[in-house]
Amino acid sequence: DTAGHAHFLIKEITEQPAAVERTLSGRIDERFATAHLGGLNMDAREARAFRRVKILGCGSAYYAGEMGAQLVEELARIPAHAEPASEFRYRNPVIEADTLYIAVSQSGETYDTLAAVQEVKRKGGRVLGVVNTVGSAIARECDGGVYLHAGPEISVASTKAFVSTVVAFALIALHLGRVHDLSPADGARIAAGLKALPGQIREVLEQEKEIAALAAKYARHEGMMFVGRVRGWPVAREGAQKLKEISYVHAEAYPASELKHGPLALISPELPTVAIVPDDELLEKNLTTMGEIRARRGQVLMVGHTRPEAKFTEDVILVPRNEPELDPILLTVPLQLLAYHAAVALERDVDKPRNLAKSVTVE
Ligand code: BG6
Repeated sequence: DTAGHAHFLIKEITEQPAAVERTLSGRIDERFATAHLGGLNMDAREARAFRRVKILGCGSAYYAGEMGAQLVEELARIPAHAEPASEFRYRNPVIEADTLYIAVSQSGETYDTLAAVQEVKRKGGRVLGVVNTVGSAIARECDGGVYLHAGPEISVASTKAFVSTVVAFALIALHLGRVHDLSPADGARIAAGLKALPGQIREVLEQEKEIAALAAKYARHEGMMFVGRVRGWPVAREGAQKLKEISYVHAEAYPASELKHGPLALISPELPTVAIVPDDELLEKNLTTMGEIRARRGQVLMVGHTRPEAKFTEDVILVPRNEPELDPILLTVPLQLLAYHAAVALERDVDKPRNLAKSVTVE
């Protein structure tokens, strides 16, 4: 049951601090400033030998994998890439012995992801699972992995499992980083950042009323654009996906840097933009993009760390600062609330959106 909440979706969004605590529980090793992940079934020598990481998942699991790939590259400096599991087996993929494959699935039953795992294994590759459901088909098929322990997720759109997945990738990246060249100081910095997440997610959730008001304002448009750069880019993709899935408002995600190469033609008062703008090295460039959107009379809702000058926009959702590598996690949470309240404002079937199923166990 929804424990007093109007929908499972908002219950699950609200449960995220506890879900993240469970994903982290017992896995941070303070002494060596690393993550302890017994389920990887891999010693340090094996973990060091991988030259690449390939992440496979469908839907939101794929977008969580994109955040995971960035974490692995940033912390471990191992080239990492995510791709849709549904496409993987059809392109006769090259499976390499020195690539670590990681399958992502909340349910552990998604057929396309399972088939991708089987393709890797058939060709002799090593594959780990980042899975929520213990004992599921994908978990059983993998050579090891990390369980999320996020608790059951009922609503079709993934929220707490998404955030827990990215946290699990941060642990994997910390572990891989510390068997390579991530310094003890940086390891400790990331470990402390991870531990701060549950409290900071709570701070974002406290803004639900303000976000609901913004959702009601923006949901009445024919569509929405989501933009971000580098760490903000998978956040934009997941934000657009969530809005589409549950509110049926058309949403597109683009790297902010790509706007001028095409989609800027779409910008008008009828197509507002959600801009993901953390305080990182791209802040000024992101603000310039917001200015370009405003110059075309596009409305901008900014999600970031610092309120900009009013000429850029007055619609701002601020999230707490953490370590820059972990920014995507906190930036995602307001977009979940935005999609949820857009769906409520438009009176959609929030937990069971049309045409979608929680877990797609057929091709
Ligand atoms: C889709 C669901 O069909 O499957 C999405 O509608 C989900 O919400 C995707 O992200 C992947 O599911 P899973 O269980 O493999 O993470």
